[in-house]
Amino acid sequence: MSLVSSTPLLQKARREGYAVAAFNVHTLEMLQGVVEAAEATRSPLILQTTVGTVKHLGPEYVAAAARVAADRSGVPIALHLDHCTEFDIVVRCIRAGYTSVMIDASMHAFQENLRQTLRVVEIAKAAGVNVEAELGKVGGVEDDIVVAENEALMADPDECASFVELSGVPTLAPAIGTAHGIYKGEPRIDFDRIERIAGLVSVPLVLHGGSGIPKAQVKRAVSLGMAKVNVATELRIVFTDAIKRVFADNPDENDPRKYMVPAKQALKEAAMEKMRICGAVGKA
Ligand code: 13P
Repeated sequence: MSLVSSTPLLQKARREGYAVAAFNVHTLEMLQGVVEAAEATRSPLILQTTVGTVKHLGPEYVAAAARVAADRSGVPIALHLDHCTEFDIVVRCIRAGYTSVMIDASMHAFQENLRQTLRVVEIAKAAGVNVEAELGKVGGVEDDIVVAENEALMADPDECASFVELSGVPTLAPAIGTAHGIYKGEPRIDFDRIERIAGLVSVPLVLHGGSGIPKAQVKRAVSLGMAKVNVATELRIVFTDAIKRVFADNPDENDPRKYMVPAKQALKEAAMEKMRICGAVGKA
């Protein structure tokens, strides 16, 4: 199978009441680990990279690795650009083979967010590529995008409805109280808001800040219409902790395979657990 657009994957998930887990990956082993998790659980998968990772690795390398994974795999895999604020990078990633892009103009007022989203929707549609936009502001830190707790802003349900209608965007990430990174206390998710947005907007909704949310809360958000759950920080921690354990036992280790293999295995198990929570198992 080749890489697929995430639009049909997410529409099916929204219709059937589960979510596709979307994992931010930064190395080949991380990419392979989540692909193995999807294969082991027969789950659809969205691989995603932030702009920072795109700049670090080069979108062509990422897309080539994702293409090989998709070609060899029996499960549908999409490759998504996460939180992009720059049109040029959107274009470069689509050219490289990304099948889904997020234009994050959520830091701007409604009209400017709409203008930037429309511009991306136009080119992405022509390329058969999914688009995700954000309304409201998700708090926390994601790469270079930092939104302080007091600047985070929940999405307005009526604005969500008109934004989707005016932009034609096929997926929407409304800010509903989650944050990027690890929560200091309990996350304060506004479930009523998710329900109201889902009642007004039929496109798949995206839950950002999927790390550190109690299982039952993720399940509830998914049951209300969240069809994509983004996870970055938790997997990074699991991966890095496994590497730290290798060096704690053997500080002189110098063979990357000796620490990457256990890291990949730990990441795979964590990803499988997220897929179970999302209800995605067996949905490939
Ligand atoms: P976390 O780092 O909190 O898992 O958030 C991931 C995310 O939403 C990526 O867009």
